Amino acid sequence: MKLISAKNYSDMSQVAASFLLGKIKNTDRLTLGLATGGTPIQTYNFLIKDHKENNTSYQHVTTFNLDEYVGVATNDPRSYHHYMDDMLFTSIDIPKTQTHIPDGVAGNLEAECDRYEQKIAASGGIDVQLLGLGSNGHIGFNEPGTAFDTKTHVVDLTEATRKANARFFDHIDEVPKQAITMGIATIMRSKEILLLVSGERKSNALAQLLEGKVDPAFPASILREHPNVSIIADHDALGDIN
Ligand code: F6R
Repeated sequence: MKLISAKNYSDMSQVAASFLLGKIKNTDRLTLGLATGGTPIQTYNFLIKDHKENNTSYQHVTTFNLDEYVGVATNDPRSYHHYMDDMLFTSIDIPKTQTHIPDGVAGNLEAECDRYEQKIAASGGIDVQLLGLGSNGHIGFNEPGTAFDTKTHVVDLTEATRKANARFFDHIDEVPKQAITMGIATIMRSKEILLLVSGERKSNALAQLLEGKVDPAFPASILREHPNVSIIADHDALGDIN
């Protein structure tokens, strides 16, 4: 794993945006895996700024998001569909048909997971997967204990994750109890992975990722076995690792 140190959240986001733009500008066809949550927001802002200033095109880019809540309609402001439209898609020139997010209100969730997995494979697989890190080591919504060979599947969210995400809802009771997520095997099949880590509240998780053993009890630890992972972490997240 390659570790890139950034001064702060803004610096991390700038470095991440430059990393992604390097891929976007230098390929005829690119499949990006995208994340939601707080961490990538400013990275997306920088991509939008670049699109406005430099006209960088996304016509050749296809995206697959990591996850979506179960039972939250796509037009609900708290859905990840809405988040992605709001934070990125409607501000760049990516064709909507080239953006993919699991359907959390599909009638048959298992069939939706299979469909999503097949869709990723049919697009030739993910070239670069952007990831955030859960404080408990989750990647996507693969919570501690998830088998490393999982494909896209329905998960029960832990209380810790529901609490961490309660800031996007009016009340913790409104945070969904389940989500559809790419599995660990799905993520690991990406050709390249970019993990962003910011803030002191992630410092224990980052230390465990860098120094701990590979164990399903800490899902992100599997990234140590991927041949092409870059981590961009800010000083607060790096803590003593600085
Ligand atoms: C988001 C996702 C999650 C987040 C993680 C960190 O699509 O899959 O794994 O990346 O929970 O969330 P933030 O960035 O809000 O700290």
